[in-house]
Amino acid sequence: MDEKTISQAVIGRLPRYYRYLGDLKDSGIERISSQDLSKLMKVTASQIRQDFNNFGGFGQQGYGYNVDYLYNEIAKILGLHNKHNLVIVGAGNLGQALANYMNFERRGFIVKGIFDINPNLIGKTLRQIPVQPMENLEEFIKSNNIDIAVLTIPKDGAVKTAEILVKCNIKAIWNFAHVDLNVPDDIVVENVHLSDSLMKLSYGLGQRENK
Ligand code: NAI
Repeated sequence: MDEKTISQAVIGRLPRYYRYLGDLKDSGIERISSQDLSKLMKVTASQIRQDFNNFGGFGQQGYGYNVDYLYNEIAKILGLHNKHNLVIVGAGNLGQALANYMNFERRGFIVKGIFDINPNLIGKTLRQIPVQPMENLEEFIKSNNIDIAVLTIPKDGAVKTAEILVKCNIKAIWNFAHVDLNVPDDIVVENVHLSDSLMKLSYGLGQRENK
């Protein structure tokens, strides 16, 4: 199946399925019906079946899904069986929080380098990884098989840094800076704005109060 034809909405729901299936696996559950998964995840069983039908169904009707198989298939679709080396650019509050979050490594995202422009941070270590000056970034990316750059810097710096990253043939940018990056199409960019989530929460609060 050509995964390019699958909607971003479906792809966007896969990580949540993956998390729930991981929890089921950890609790020793081997099979689950779409109805039970639906109750657990609070989405309709038909939504689950429709989502999984995009990838050939994954299970037998009436017999339920094999949790381990489904977990592994979703991991394959999301590319989680591959390891990806990453660098964090910006060792401030957010960069440090991400660097210290061990769970990314469990998913195969390995923090290899951390970079910052502030001389006071250079040499400081986060999980034994030293913060390096920006002058080292280009060479480090080229010689350490880095796929992903995480940008946790203000927007002005992000635009310039993206230009450097393009020169280094980076494959993907996880962009936390509040700016849309102008990079070639073959570089995968995922923008993260926590405030979008907060605004959705605010909308939910408004709806609740209008009831
Ligand atoms: P911070 O001020 O604690 O850290 C920013 C770090 O980036 C500093 O260490 C600074 O020296 C470094 N830096 C600045 N320009 C740089 C450059 N050109 N090259 C390399 N390093 C550079 O800020 P914090 O709280 O860590 O946030 C970082 C950025 O992420 C901010 O611009 C903020 O707007 C943004 N942000 C985005 C969020 C999101 O959901 N997308 C959430 C929180 C922050």
